[in-house]
Amino acid sequence: MNRVLRPAGVQLVRGYSSDPAVGAFLPARKTIAAAQKAGVSVGDYLDAFSAEPGSTAGTVAAMLRLGQLDGSVDRVCEIGAGSGRYMTRVMDALQPGAYEVYETAPDWVRYLRQIRPQVIIRPANGHSLDATTSESVDLVHAHKVFVYLPFVVSFGYLAEMARVVRPGGVVAFDVITEDCLNDVVTKTWLDEPSRANIYQLTPRAWVVEFLARRGLELAGSEFVPLSDGRTELLVFRTR
Ligand SMILES: C[S@@+](CC[C@H](N)C(=O)[O-])C[C@H]1O[C@@H](n2cnc3c(N)ncnc32)[C@H](O)[C@@H]1O
Repeated sequence: MNRVLRPAGVQLVRGYSSDPAVGAFLPARKTIAAAQKAGVSVGDYLDAFSAEPGSTAGTVAAMLRLGQLDGSVDRVCEIGAGSGRYMTRVMDALQPGAYEVYETAPDWVRYLRQIRPQVIIRPANGHSLDATTSESVDLVHAHKVFVYLPFVVSFGYLAEMARVVRPGGVVAFDVITEDCLNDVVTKTWLDEPSRANIYQLTPRAWVVEFLARRGLELAGSEFVPLSDGRTELLVFRTR
């Protein structure tokens, strides 16, 4: 279709909204079918397809360790849960009383409801966590989301995460900071800029300061795989 439209200078782009804050994601039906064909779970399929095998499990383990999270977690909130590969692992590890999700893609929302009927799907406007009360959640997290969204949208969400986390709670997310860039990553990006131009960079020191002004302290960080690079998982605790 795009080949036909090209002479007119028009291109069709997959998406659910004209709001640039709402990023597109892989179509659920095709992705689930591809995972079934490969004989693996959707999460394992995405790990292998977009990063490296075991990366989701490794990220969740690092987040729980750095955030010192154990079974005493009551409420969790996740932004951009998509395939649910982080959601299912966090639910299994922490058994929270409630798990809220803000996800803009309706096909993945349907899938999340199917795999975990107890999930609380919040109305997602692509910018804020309006349906979540201030200081109400023990863990608010997002993975492979702020890597793609316009920076202003990401830090709007960071302010929201700081608002909804309860005293003693944890805020965790991964971003591409300047520390993620090394010669290997930049060479890969320069070799194929059309793949790399989907990524957004986040200034690390600025984020640490931004959240410090909202009562959050960096508890630790760890590099985690991203296709064609790596992201930095940053884990904050309320002071
Ligand atoms: C790259 S995917 C990552 C999905 C999931 N966290 C994972 O790693 O499998 C980004 C997810 O964020 C969702 N999304 C995009 N823009 C969003 C926004 N502004 N607010 C909330 N979710 C958004 C997409 O629909 C998609 O499910």
